[in-house]
Amino acid sequence: ADSMHSKLLAVYEKAEYFYHHLLVNSKAGEEAYNYLLNRGMTKESIETFKIGFSPPQRQALKLYLDNEGLNDPEVLKKSGLFSDRDDDTFVDRFTNRILFPIADARGKTVAFSGRAFLEAEDNHRMAKYMNSPETELFNKRRILFNYDKARASIRRDGEVILFEGFMDVISAWQAGVKNGIASMGTSLTEEQIHVLDKVTDHVVIAYDGDDAGLEATKRATDFINRETHFTIDIASFPENLDPDDFIQSRGKEAFVEFLSHGRDTLMSFLLKYHRKGINLKNESERLKYIEVVLRELARVSSAVERELYLNQLQEEFDLSVDALKEQMHSFIVEQQ
Ligand code: GTP
Ligand code: MN
Ligand code: MN
Ligand code: MN
Ligand code: MN
Repeated sequence: ADSMHSKLLAVYEKAEYFYHHLLVNSKAGEEAYNYLLNRGMTKESIETFKIGFSPPQRQALKLYLDNEGLNDPEVLKKSGLFSDRDDDTFVDRFTNRILFPIADARGKTVAFSGRAFLEAEDNHRMAKYMNSPETELFNKRRILFNYDKARASIRRDGEVILFEGFMDVISAWQAGVKNGIASMGTSLTEEQIHVLDKVTDHVVIAYDGDDAGLEATKRATDFINRETHFTIDIASFPENLDPDDFIQSRGKEAFVEFLSHGRDTLMSFLLKYHRKGINLKNESERLKYIEVVLRELARVSSAVERELYLNQLQEEFDLSVDALKEQMHSFIVEQQ
């Protein structure tokens, strides 16, 4: 298995080099390269993240690897870089896409994610992103994009910033935020939490500011709360912007400022979340809101924090703290 792993790593290294070279130095990659530059990605980032371009030809990578003497069919099959076919021909999995190499925790490339970039393709049947399939080396449940590069900063800053997408991680990186990571387009898994648990106990969730991002944030907070004792902060981006959009439209400084001083504590995020679409003038909606907030408060371990929000509720709804406390305690008992 060890020699298979090292053969696979050699294939990924060559593939990364090939795709990156095509993006940066070839006529074929020009459109993709300009697309990235127009989106504000710097040449330095393209270098740092070894962004690549897979050309439209169906066997470009296959022929290149052949020339490099990498032609063991068993290895090629296991690499996930070719489409599964019944006959023994190998057809490149990624064509006409911008490629983001995905590294394992040691910084070795073990997969790619490809983004369609042609105007027409953005809106049509082609999936926007396509990932390598799961392989011996690419465990989607465990890998976090940019974890290898971010780890030292996560330790130093005492927190990790969790983004939805590759572009968010890279834009943030360009703004000087080096402790950002992204899960692979899915919700956070137990394995990924376990990886993070080794280096930090503080997560800042910085998902997209659209409804999907908001719901994903709520799910992530519930999940992290259940699995860990991490401190959670939330950066809720305004006006449906994702972090990358925010940086492009308002600039790096505004982004850094928002991320550090515009973030919400978990409780204030939850208050806003549960308040959405609720008419507090309606008695039954008001009662429901108070109940759901008390349920959330029952999960808070800090007595000081609970007290703070109980006082807030008491003032806002003109209720006695005793009644609120009693209700909250009944929820604590329920949860035990
Ligand atoms: P840009 O449009 O390039 O700015 O990408 P984004 O990161 O803003 O994409 P979006 O918010 O739509 O999705 C967040 C992440 O989900 C992406 O970075 C991908 O990892 C993943 N994702 C999005 N669309 C797809 C898809 O069609 N297929 C798969 N497998 N993953 C996707
Ligand atoms: Mn800490
Ligand atoms: Mn999104
Ligand atoms: Mn997005
Ligand atoms: Mn985006």
